[in-house]
Amino acid sequence: MKATIEAEDLTKKFDDFVAVDHISFAVQDGEIFGFLGPNGAGKSTTIKMLITILNPTSGQARICGYDVLRQRDDVRRHIGIVFQDPSIDRFLTGKENLNFHGMIYHMDKKTRESRISEVLKLLDLQDKENTPVKDCSGGIQRRFEVARGFMTHPRVLFLDEPTIGLDIQARRALWEYIKNLNKDNDITIILTTHYIEEADYLCDRIGIIDHGKVIATDSPQRLKESVGIDLILMEIANGGNGDFIASLKRLEWVKNIEQHRNLLELSVEEGDRRVPELLGLASRHGVSVTSIDSHKPSLEDAFLHYTGKTIRENEEEQKR
Ligand SMILES: Nc1ncnc2c1ncn2[C@@H]1O[C@H](COP(=O)(O)OP(=O)(O)OP(=O)(O)O)[C@@H](O)[C@H]1O
Ligand SMILES: [Mg+2]
Repeated sequence: MKATIEAEDLTKKFDDFVAVDHISFAVQDGEIFGFLGPNGAGKSTTIKMLITILNPTSGQARICGYDVLRQRDDVRRHIGIVFQDPSIDRFLTGKENLNFHGMIYHMDKKTRESRISEVLKLLDLQDKENTPVKDCSGGIQRRFEVARGFMTHPRVLFLDEPTIGLDIQARRALWEYIKNLNKDNDITIILTTHYIEEADYLCDRIGIIDHGKVIATDSPQRLKESVGIDLILMEIANGGNGDFIASLKRLEWVKNIEQHRNLLELSVEEGDRRVPELLGLASRHGVSVTSIDSHKPSLEDAFLHYTGKTIRENEEEQKR
């Protein structure tokens, strides 16, 4: 069967700046697929092209078989959207917002009423339905936005940073609703996030995106495994010296070395028992080790491995 979302060489330029750079990927029916990347990576721009509100500069994409450029209306009939920036009317109640949305989509009164009670139930919002949105917590407001995106029985739900700005409890609660929507309603979900734990917990597969390019795509588990069995992160003063790095490369139990400025990333077997040996070797080469740590690779490590920076360093760089 064809993929529910297919993108091929999707590219968006703003003047000379390439925000999305030849992205190709596919999302299968029923998957939760997430783009994980720092601020400015091109996540929202990619989503906007898929939901037909931004024209690609080049490349193509199809949603449920419909072309995002040539069959916009068909695409729109099959999708629900939660934008990164809140777009719910704060002065209306949650229920009024849902009703208004149903009207825009030409749902008759009876259909609207029954669908509103369904989506309110799915997101556990019945006791907040008559509260003006501005008086609801951030987590509840976001849930109303998901409920709204779900009003029209979409086959694909787009969630651009669904839990941005929420505290950890509200974020976790929303994760459960998203998982349940996916599991119980036969719906494909594509989301973006810059929260590592969110991608790890929610997504069947993740595309790591940085500077407009998808660098790696796989399940969270396989992304972690691709970094190594054990990982030793060794922070060294002044980036070490060539002799030290060369001697590390000669160790047969070191499977791979990546250097990210002062941080050495070593893929090894039996990481715990290698630490003393590494410290000894550094000392013999006059290299001072400021920290060393052995652990099973996390998604954070995979992100560092593929992009050369932690997600936090990436975000700091964007701010400058
Ligand atoms: N309309 C536009 N005109 C010019 N540049 C834009 C426009 N929209 C986005 N960009 C730039 O394209 C890049 C990608 O932006 P985008 O919003 O897709 O990133 P993002 O990954 O969603 O980031 P965030 O995590 O902050 O939401 C950024 O450098 C942004 O400044
Ligand atoms: Mg964004």
